[in-house]
Amino acid sequence: MNIYVVYDSENGHTEVLAKSVAEGAQEVAGAKVTIDHVREAKVRILEDMDAIVWGCPGHFGTISAGLKQWIDKLGYLWAKGKLVGKVGAAFCTTATVHGGIEMTLWNLITPMLHNGMIIVGLPGNVPENVLYGSYYGVGVTCPVEMTPDAPPNLPSGADLELGRALGRRVSQVTAKLSRE
Ligand SMILES: Cc1cc2nc3c(=O)[nH]c(=O)nc-3n(C[C@H](O)[C@H](O)[C@H](O)COP(=O)(O)O)c2cc1C
Repeated sequence: MNIYVVYDSENGHTEVLAKSVAEGAQEVAGAKVTIDHVREAKVRILEDMDAIVWGCPGHFGTISAGLKQWIDKLGYLWAKGKLVGKVGAAFCTTATVHGGIEMTLWNLITPMLHNGMIIVGLPGNVPENVLYGSYYGVGVTCPVEMTPDAPPNLPSGADLELGRALGRRVSQVTAKLSRE
């Protein structure tokens, strides 16, 4: 089964989270995971994918322009129903806890629903999720660095565990659907 992880990231926070999602997806037998920054992401390979996961930094409570521009290239696939039945999931980072994580995740999921995709979130039986996760995908906070030369506040170990958990769940659900 083919799984595609596409992400936007200006300063690496979301990129690290994207890699954890890809790692988790790869842990399931039979998964072939491809991961691309949205700059390099290819629309033409989407038809060959069984699952598509996309994510971005939250920009003013919604999808970053870079990823939205790419999603808006999917009109032809939508018109032909080419993504119907594929598994989808979303992830994001924001700088503040109440800075629009859930709105960004919902905005990321909406185009998947328009395309007839089957959304996978994270349930409450993932231990890290019960503590501070989200049911709509993975959304984590990376507080803004206070000085330009401060080391980046990248996602924590627990954040990355959530990313891996989402990736694993995407692969597990995709494997089940592929067997039917
Ligand atoms: C144009 C712009 C808008 C942003 N809007 C928000 C916001 O609404 N809420 C928030 O918490 N963080 C906001 N941020 C901060 C980013 O979401 C956050 O720093 C993110 O982790 C950056 O990820 P990246 O390094 O992968 O680009 C914004 C950043 C930019 C550049």
